[in-house]
Amino acid sequence: MIPDYLISIDPAHISFEKVDCLIVGSGIAGLRAAVELAGFRVLITCKNHLYDSSTYNAQGGIAVALSSNDSPQFHFKDTIATGCGINNPDAVRILVNEGIERVKELIQWGCKFDRDSDGYDFTQEAAHSFPRILHARGDATGKEVVDVLLAKISSIPDIQLQTGFFLIDLVFDGEHIRGGVFYDPSHSNVIFIQAKVTIAASGGFGQIFQETTNPFSITGDIQAAAFRKGAALGDMEFYQFHPTTLYMAGVPRFLISESVRGEGGILVNSNGERFMNNYHPDMELAPRDIVSRAIIHEMRRTNSNCVYLDLRKLNADFVVNRFPGIHRFCFEYGIDITRDLIPVRPCAHYAMGGIITDFYGQTTLPGFLACGEVACTGVHGANRLASNSLLEGLVFGARAGEKAKDLIISSKNKDYFPPEYRVKQQKDLFIDVYDLQRSIKSLMWKNVGIERDHQGLDEAIQRLDAWGKYIFLKEFSTQTGWETQNMFILSFVMAHAAFLRNESRGAHFRRDFPQTRDDVWKRSQQFTKNNFHPEKKEK
Ligand code: SIN
Repeated sequence: MIPDYLISIDPAHISFEKVDCLIVGSGIAGLRAAVELAGFRVLITCKNHLYDSSTYNAQGGIAVALSSNDSPQFHFKDTIATGCGINNPDAVRILVNEGIERVKELIQWGCKFDRDSDGYDFTQEAAHSFPRILHARGDATGKEVVDVLLAKISSIPDIQLQTGFFLIDLVFDGEHIRGGVFYDPSHSNVIFIQAKVTIAASGGFGQIFQETTNPFSITGDIQAAAFRKGAALGDMEFYQFHPTTLYMAGVPRFLISESVRGEGGILVNSNGERFMNNYHPDMELAPRDIVSRAIIHEMRRTNSNCVYLDLRKLNADFVVNRFPGIHRFCFEYGIDITRDLIPVRPCAHYAMGGIITDFYGQTTLPGFLACGEVACTGVHGANRLASNSLLEGLVFGARAGEKAKDLIISSKNKDYFPPEYRVKQQKDLFIDVYDLQRSIKSLMWKNVGIERDHQGLDEAIQRLDAWGKYIFLKEFSTQTGWETQNMFILSFVMAHAAFLRNESRGAHFRRDFPQTRDDVWKRSQQFTKNNFHPEKKEK
């Protein structure tokens, strides 16, 4: 059902560019990878503008064992405990140990993390046994990091940045990935960028859900393209929902950082009652999946569509200085976070699953690397420890960059131009892509969201299967059409993976199987296009 390409390729009608390394994505992982590639021709593309990334929006910070009482061993233990037994321990060791060097390097390049009178001001976040979250400009850590990395890159010749380029497909010569086919909407032009090495670094796929903190552009295009070409996707059933995003009609689902709870913010239900004591001894700083489910239960119990964050007991000046971005954003919509309750509820936030890689970003497709949220190294297991994602981008971005350098040097690939390719199009169907996209998002939110069960997942698979019978019959010529096809692929893989995992573990919660079943499921699942058969699912 899933085709190799989304568009027909006629070499006579596409333009052509050639680089050593193509990096898709301008967040922390892609930018950090590029730093390793001085001396080579590198092109970094992004779908929208340079700041349209989950990195840029990151508020909370970077988890790193740099405070005097802390150690990488403690960070390792917390990451493994949160991942519920299926992290790859070697990946976690790399993260917590190399993370220290990578963060020090970032500081050397000019990154100014916030300080107090004793040195760096480390914040506490959920499931960390020490305050170890570095933050910058209060709640604008991502902005600081992106600015520092962009400045670093601007000093390296031959690294080009191209905004507004949409990746339609990866190009595979049968042995290697040879670059990507892009759409440039401003010129209605299709471009083949040939590369010796291609690095995916474009974030997750939160837009498959109706409610998400992810930017609108995060539709998982490269994960879907990699799957079409035969790459393995892993841990796709594990998707993290962030407990606290602003919930007001017509307002973007703006993240209210976990560090707000780390600094003493509490959760109350619509009756004004603090409730987390009924769910976990760590109260508001319980793991994210537990807080998200507690909020959903309280919303149901009190027949309300949100709960509230209450910061009114904190010093108002402290709140404004520590969380200037959150204060400013909420204020624009009439909420003064120093005096008013903040209406919040959970939203899709972070994909633990993605394109399977080794510890240097190598995927199952030669010439194609992945790093950051787009990748699945196994570092997060079934649930990601808060603020480990920026660290992941730094550590595994640098490693992917190093590996890309070796591969470029040893590459013997000659020039390649994709042969003429025709999508097997059967009919010129009318498909309302906006309606289809809304339907996918709503189905995923309701049936494959925070709480799942057999019936809901079965229904999701049946509906996706039905939509799959026609969604690829049409060859779209619009970005929204291709994005919808990509969202469909990732939704289908996730629904199927969640259906098969009949246990609860980390972020994957099954109402009908609330226990963790180590005897059967202390392992990851991987899918490729060849072993993906949702229609043959076991009952
Ligand atoms: C937050 O600030 O709560 C988000 C950080 C993260 O996703 O780890």
